[in-house]
Amino acid sequence: MSAKKNKKSRKTTQTVQANQRQLFLRHIAQTSSSPLALEIVKAEGCKLYDKKGKEYIDLIAGISVCNVGHRHPKVVKAIKNQVDDYLHLLVYGEMIETPQVLYAQLLTKNLPKSLNSVYFTNSGAEATEGAMKLAKRVSGRTQIIAFNHSYHGSTQGALSVIGDEYWRNAFRPLLPDILHLDYNSSEALEEITERTACVIAETIQAEKGVNAPLKKWIKALRKKCTATGTLLILDEIQTGFGRTGTLWGFEQFGIVPDIILLGKALGGGMPLGAFVADKKLMNQFTENPVLGHITTFGGHPVCCAAGLAAMKVLQKEKLVEKVHEKEYLFRELLQHPKIKVLRSRGLLMAIELEDSATVLKVTQACLKQGILTDWFLFAPNCIRMAPPLTITSKEIRKACVVIYKAIDAIKI
Ligand SMILES: Cc1ncc(COP(=O)(O)O)c(C=O)c1O
Repeated sequence: MSAKKNKKSRKTTQTVQANQRQLFLRHIAQTSSSPLALEIVKAEGCKLYDKKGKEYIDLIAGISVCNVGHRHPKVVKAIKNQVDDYLHLLVYGEMIETPQVLYAQLLTKNLPKSLNSVYFTNSGAEATEGAMKLAKRVSGRTQIIAFNHSYHGSTQGALSVIGDEYWRNAFRPLLPDILHLDYNSSEALEEITERTACVIAETIQAEKGVNAPLKKWIKALRKKCTATGTLLILDEIQTGFGRTGTLWGFEQFGIVPDIILLGKALGGGMPLGAFVADKKLMNQFTENPVLGHITTFGGHPVCCAAGLAAMKVLQKEKLVEKVHEKEYLFRELLQHPKIKVLRSRGLLMAIELEDSATVLKVTQACLKQGILTDWFLFAPNCIRMAPPLTITSKEIRKACVVIYKAIDAIKI
């Protein structure tokens, strides 16, 4: 390239860099009037770095995605190796793709016996969609029951079952024959009948600001589903992969779902979702119609290779076993009279404050000091903390000093 051309191209790059923010606002479809708009150029472990070199401790892990931290070397290596072998080959389910097969084997080895067949999707919402279709197909019924304040994704089927009318209303008509019940309500269980194809529930409601079910209630839910021949779908998209202190959230309640939904941390930082059920159920997708559920990219080999490596890291580094110790440290360091309550299930934590405006003030003050936190869809008066499970006690202490000071500075 000539010196003149070289200079011109450098200038163009500089202009593009200088305008990243404007370009982001102009060309990236916006879904909020106040995006974070941080320009991160590097991520590693629990840290993010912006273009000015400012360091952030990530307390949200891409919303419970980066359980093994950002760019774990083993995950990066697995991705690179797979890229060297092959990328996309053919639509889902036709070719024997080793990363898919090995990952399905590892997942099912770590799930109860009845959850032995994995359908990989691209996202959590698609896992919700596929599972609801499977439940209708298996049961021959149409009614789907979901719970208020649950989140299952933003596609139209998933949106139909999320538990908040504010988000559903603008997009009606949605799926018919959906009933929303109160989570943790025993009377509500009466509504589950022989007409109900499935009940879909988050094992622990994440977006409600960490709302755990009563053990008695979720056991009764399981019992009622069994008695009525209704499939129980548990959404572990946010609670899976050790987030709440056990590999799967449902282990804490002594129940087993008929279908489990996975996503987020499933892909180790790459886009991947899945629904897992018994092979007898899953086989219903093979006829009437054939190809009962179709995806081009679901279970992409690079994503499966990344997810497989991430799950191995989770196990090898015994990250799940260390979750409670880290949770207790957060709880010990974050005791302040202005905190109404700190709800936590492992490293899924919600700090409840006075109101959403206070949350905004605190999260913004934290961000200035290099601590990244967030809020919850159905609990805007709570600060979300769900760091990578690899977070160190030093990082926890550093983050908590900042959060504590930010809360302390609130004027009520
Ligand atoms: C519990 C739960 N289910 C489903 C989803 C949807 O996953 P995705 O955004 O990958 O479609 C989410 C995402 O936040 C979730 O938290």
